Amino acid sequence: MPVTYSESLDAAIQYLQQLKARGVKYLTVSPSTLAALSNGPRPSPPAARPVKAPRAEAPLRESPAKPVAPPASADEGPSIAVLAPRVPSSLSGEAKAAAMSELRERALGCQKCPRLAASRQNVVFGVGDINSPLLFVGEAPGADEDSQGEPFVGQAGQLLTRIIQTMGFPRDTVYIANVLKCRPDTPGQTAGNRKPTPEEMRTCLPYLLAQIDLIQPKIIVALGGTAMEGLFGRVVPITKVRGHFQDFRDIPVMPTYHPSYLLRTQALGVKRQLWEDMLQVLEKLGRPISERQRNYFLSSAQ
Ligand code: URA
Repeated sequence: MPVTYSESLDAAIQYLQQLKARGVKYLTVSPSTLAALSNGPRPSPPAARPVKAPRAEAPLRESPAKPVAPPASADEGPSIAVLAPRVPSSLSGEAKAAAMSELRERALGCQKCPRLAASRQNVVFGVGDINSPLLFVGEAPGADEDSQGEPFVGQAGQLLTRIIQTMGFPRDTVYIANVLKCRPDTPGQTAGNRKPTPEEMRTCLPYLLAQIDLIQPKIIVALGGTAMEGLFGRVVPITKVRGHFQDFRDIPVMPTYHPSYLLRTQALGVKRQLWEDMLQVLEKLGRPISERQRNYFLSSAQ
C-alpha cells in the first residue's frame, strides 16, 4: 500500500516524540534533508486520502556554514561544538516581525515553570532590532528587569548599555535577550537573585533558539558562564573560554564576562579583558575600530 506524505509525516513526528521522551534534544540533519523537508511533498498520483498541504510558510534556504576564523591570538583556545544545525529562514521583514511577535505572545503566556510563572511580574522576552547582526545573551532577568519587562535595565544593564554604546552601537540597534525569560524565584528572600537551574534553562531554551533562528545574528555575545551553560547545555568555565569564539549552530559565539562581575570586581584587567573580547567582535563584524576604542581600559582613566 503506498504511503502518503501525511502518513510519513505522522510517523516522523511520532519518532521525534519518542526521541524527545528519551531525552534527545538535538538531531543532526543534513542540508539536503533540510532542503527536501522545506520543499514539502513531491507531486504524487492522486491518493485515496487527500494530502494535506504543508503549512504555508516561507521556504527554508540552505545556509552555507560560515567558517569561524580562529581567535586573533596564537592560542587557539578551547572549543565547544554544538552539532545541531540551525534551521535557516528566509522570511521577509514583515513575516519575521510577525513570527517574532507570535513567539513573544507564546512566551508571555508560558506556564512551563509553574513556580516562576506564579512569582514573575513580567516575562522578559527580549528587546532590540530583530535584524541586528549582534545578539547579546544574558542569564535571567533580575528584579528590575522583572518589574519593567525588559532585559538588562538594572545596574548591570546600564553597564552593558555603556559597553554596547562604546562599541559604536545605539542600544536599540542590537538585540538583547536572556536564556531564561522569567526571573528565578527566591522564596523567603526579600532581595537578591539566584542562578537559574539547569532544568529551568533547558525548559526555556527553545524560546531563545527560536529568537536566534529568526534574528540570525552574525555574532552572539554570551554574557557570563551561566549564559554559556544555558546555550551549550553544560557547565562552561568562563575564565577558560572567554575571548575565544565558539560555534553555536553555525554562529560564532563570543563568551565574555557578565557585566555584574565587572561591577563586583572593578579590576581594570578584567574590564580590559571584556573590552578585548568586544574588539574581537567588532573585528569579526568588519566594523571600523578607532584608536580611542582600541586603547580603552589600557589606562586607569576609564
Ligand atoms: N542579568 C542578566 O543576565 N540578565 C538581565 O536581564 C539582567 C541582569
